[in-house]
Amino acid sequence: MMKIMKYMLMAPLMVGSAFGMLAGDGVKVEHLGVNNTLVRVDGDGKYLLLPVQDDVADAKVNLLIDGKLERTFYVRLAKSKVDFTVPLNIEPYKGHNIVLDINANHDRSSIREAKDAACWNAIEVSDTFDVSNREKFRPVYHHTPQWGWMNDPNGMYYRDGVWHLYYQWNPFGSKWQNMTWGHSTSTDLINWDHKAVGIEPDGLGTIFSGSCALDKTNSTGFGKDAVVALYTSAAASQMQSLAHSDNDGESFIKYPGNPVFTLETEARDPNMFWNEKTKQWNIMLAHALEHEILFITSPDLKTWTLQSAFGKEGAQGGVWECPDLFPLEINGRKKWVLLVNLNPGGPFGGSATQYFIGDFDGRNFTADTDGSGKIPTKWMDYGKDHYATVTWSDAPDNRRTAIGWMSNWQYAADVPTMQFRSANTLPRELSLFEGTDGEIYLASTPSPETIRLRDMAVVKGKNINARKKASSFRLPTANDGICEISFDIESKSDAKVFVTLSNKINEKVVVTYNPADNTIAFDRTQAGISDFSQDFPAVTVSPTFTGDGKTSVHMFIDRSSIEMFAKDGKYAMTNLVFPNEPYSSISFSSEGNAKISNLEIYSLKN
Ligand code: FRU
Repeated sequence: MMKIMKYMLMAPLMVGSAFGMLAGDGVKVEHLGVNNTLVRVDGDGKYLLLPVQDDVADAKVNLLIDGKLERTFYVRLAKSKVDFTVPLNIEPYKGHNIVLDINANHDRSSIREAKDAACWNAIEVSDTFDVSNREKFRPVYHHTPQWGWMNDPNGMYYRDGVWHLYYQWNPFGSKWQNMTWGHSTSTDLINWDHKAVGIEPDGLGTIFSGSCALDKTNSTGFGKDAVVALYTSAAASQMQSLAHSDNDGESFIKYPGNPVFTLETEARDPNMFWNEKTKQWNIMLAHALEHEILFITSPDLKTWTLQSAFGKEGAQGGVWECPDLFPLEINGRKKWVLLVNLNPGGPFGGSATQYFIGDFDGRNFTADTDGSGKIPTKWMDYGKDHYATVTWSDAPDNRRTAIGWMSNWQYAADVPTMQFRSANTLPRELSLFEGTDGEIYLASTPSPETIRLRDMAVVKGKNINARKKASSFRLPTANDGICEISFDIESKSDAKVFVTLSNKINEKVVVTYNPADNTIAFDRTQAGISDFSQDFPAVTVSPTFTGDGKTSVHMFIDRSSIEMFAKDGKYAMTNLVFPNEPYSSISFSSEGNAKISNLEIYSLKN
C-alpha cells in the first residue's frame, strides 16, 4: 500500500522527465523501442529485484558493467502482474555503471504496451531479498532451493562431516533456464544451509549436470585432496568442462583449457571416480540420444580416452542422462551398479531411474543377464517423481547414499508452486538383495539420519485386523500434518489390502497391496490438485519382491510428497501430491482377512 501511494505521489513529477517512466527505487527506465528497454541502476543496494510473471515469455537481459557485457541471462519479466521477484546480486559492481539492456519477447505492438508492462514499476534496488518459506506446498523437511527452479541434484561429495549438494538451478525464475550450480551443505542430510552459488554460466554456456570428487592423489595438479568438478558446458552444443575448488566447494576455478572433451553428438552429465586399481579416473558420460553410457579413462581429468560404451539395452524410450557407477557387495561378492536416468520412457510415463547390475573391469561394463539370457530392465523407484538420481562421492563408512530430483519432466514446470519449483527426495542408502527370482536388485532405504525428524509417537506398536469395514487412525496435525508412518501387512488367502490417506474434503491416496501378484500400488488420481497436467493423475505400481502374502510400508509424508518404501528397501515409490488440506486420517481395510502389525505414526519436527 505504502508503495502504491509513493508511486502515485511521484507520478506527476516524473512525467516529462528525461526518462518519462515510473520506476521502482534506485533505477531509471528508458524505452528504446517496442521490445527494447534500458534499466540503469542509480541507487545503492545489494540486489536489483526483478519482477517475474511465471507464465510469460523470457526476456533476454544483457548485464553491462561500465559498458562491457558481464553476462546474459533470461527472466520472465512481468507483463500484467507480478507473481514474485528474483534478486540480481549487484554488490560486486558497486561503484560501477550498471545497465540492463533488456530485449523483451512479449509480442508487443506498440511502445505504449511496452511502457505498460508491470515490471517497470516494481523493479527496484534493495538491501534485502525475502526468502521466507510461506508457500503452502513448500516441503518442510526436503531440500529445496530458497527460490527459483531446481532440477537434478549433482556434484555431490562428502568431506570432513559435511555433505555437499549442488543442483541444477535457475536463480532468475521458477522454470528451467540459466542453468547454474546452486549449492547447499548439511551435516545431517536433513537440515540444509544455503550457500553462495557454486558454478555460474560462462562463454562456453550454461552449467549442466556433473560430479565432484576429492583428488586424493593430486592427479590433476590442483593439490592433494582438492575438490574437482566435471560438468557439461551447454550452449549450441554440449561439451565437458573441468573446475576445481580451493575453498572446499564454496566456489570453483574453471580450467582455462576448457572444454576438456568434445564429441560430434550430444553427450552430458559426466560422473567420475578415482579407480585405485588402475590409478586412473573413470568417467561415465551419457550419450543421450544414442541411449548409451560412454566409459572414459583419464589420468588427470584433462586428457580423456574413450574406452567403451554400454547401452541400447534396458529401457530406451527417451534420452539417457545422469549416469552413476559404483560397487556394492552381496553375499561377499562385489557387483557394479550402473544408474541410468531416462526421460521419457519411465514405467508410468516421463522420467525415471533405471539401473543395471554387472561387472566393471576399469574399461568395460558388462551387464548381468537373466535366466532367458536377456539384460533385464530394473527400476530404482516405482513412483512418478524420482529422477536424475546419483550418489555422493567419498561418503563415510562405506555408505552409498543417493538423492533424486522429486519431480517429472512431464509437469515439473507446471506444479502449483510459484516462488520455488521442485524439491529433492529424502537421501537414501543403497544396497543389494537377491529377489525371489534369483536376480540381484537394488534396495533403497531412507538414510538413518531421517530418524532425527521424529517428534512424537502418535501411535506405537498397534496391531489391527483389516476387514471390509475400515479401521481408521487420526494423523498428526502439527506442522501441516507432516508425518512418518510404518507398518507390516500380512494378507491371508490372496485378499487385497487397502490403506487410505484422506482429508475432510474427500481427497485421498489409496495404497493397495495385492498379494495375488505381489504388487503394491499408489493411486493419486483423487489426491488433490491435479488439473495442471493431464500426466499428473496416476496409479503407480511396484513389485513387492516378496512372495508370501507379506510386505511392509515405511512412508514419509511432507506437504506435497509421499515417499513409500518397504521397511527393508526392496521397493521404493516416490510421488508428489497436492492436497488442498493435509491428509488427516489413515484407514486400513481388506477384501478378506489381513493383519496390520507394528503400526507406528510419528509427527515430525518443523
Ligand atoms: C536431466 C538433465 C541433464 C542435464 C540437466 C540440464 O534432468 O536433462 O541431462 O544436464 O538436466 O538442466
